[in-house]
Amino acid sequence: MEKSERETTLQKLPALLLAWYDKNKRDLPWRENTDPYRVWVSEIMLQQTRVEAAKEHYIRFVRELPDVRALAACPEDKLLKLWEGLGYYSRARNLQKAAKIVAESGFPQTAEGWKKLPGVGDYTAGAIASICFEEASPAVDGNVVRVLSRVLADGREQETLKRGFAAELAPAYPAARRGDFTQSLMELGATVCLPASPLCLTCPLFSLCQTKSDALPRRKEKPQRRIFCKTLFLFCDGGRLALYRRTAGVLKGTYGFFSAERPMDNAQAEDFLRRAGLQNFALGAPLAHTHVFSHLEWHMTAYAVYSPEDAARLELPADESAEADFARLFYADKREIESRYSLPSAFRWALACVTPN
Ligand code: ADE
Repeated sequence: MEKSERETTLQKLPALLLAWYDKNKRDLPWRENTDPYRVWVSEIMLQQTRVEAAKEHYIRFVRELPDVRALAACPEDKLLKLWEGLGYYSRARNLQKAAKIVAESGFPQTAEGWKKLPGVGDYTAGAIASICFEEASPAVDGNVVRVLSRVLADGREQETLKRGFAAELAPAYPAARRGDFTQSLMELGATVCLPASPLCLTCPLFSLCQTKSDALPRRKEKPQRRIFCKTLFLFCDGGRLALYRRTAGVLKGTYGFFSAERPMDNAQAEDFLRRAGLQNFALGAPLAHTHVFSHLEWHMTAYAVYSPEDAARLELPADESAEADFARLFYADKREIESRYSLPSAFRWALACVTPN
């Protein structure tokens, strides 16, 4: 499609999409008002999390931390507990870093201003500035790339499109309802222009669309994820479980179970524990699980280790490696784990290997 034709097509989007949005928009908790704090929290949560998964977390988060000052002052354990299950925990840490700046100097009023805050990129800045401040600032995420690449039949690679579309879309913004226009594009991508089997027959852009299928956008081949094999040990003493606080990596600040860096069957697990110095114990049945992060996979087997001995006194055999020293382990009961310690999905599944006592 030629440049002028693309421009004309994009100019037609606001009228079609706003009319559709008025009738079809979902009733979502962050759409109750355009308070920049609430919109900001929602856009950060929605960066890597689906709407359905984010909703309940969002409601709890803004109830517990109703304004930017509350977020700035929140203890890290509480913050990460509120983020538990959403993944990509650096988003929460950056959100708080930025909240400390905003609590001091006020909310930025433009997309450029927002971009200076930790964790706020082009997409998030564009979304907040258009939704809260009516700026003609596009927010082009994967959903919007999908819609526009199909409407314009643009077969270039997604990352290239993201940058290009933001610049091309800005002049097509309407004079009013700019935030709604941003959200209408996202909404169409999320509910109609689906990655596979899009609902073209119900699409308000049907007559405009040059693709009318899931043939686009062109996807870049993703690099293979690196695979790590781990054995988790859940040391249990009565109703208490041994945890440690992670101090590095993407799950920094969250809690996890002791993990050795190799796969082990029952006999190997027993041998490992004996060599670490544990004498009196019973091993539960193994439970296996794979957790997929964006760039890597953890292939894990978990064992409950029932023992009255303190696991924090064990010593890692010289020929073994583990994510953290035994000495960092401390015991907490289930109620404490549920109320205080953020146990990310990468570890939470392993609770099922423990027999309730
Ligand atoms: N995805 C990202 N931002 C969104 C929003 N404001 N509404 C719905 N889905 C979204």
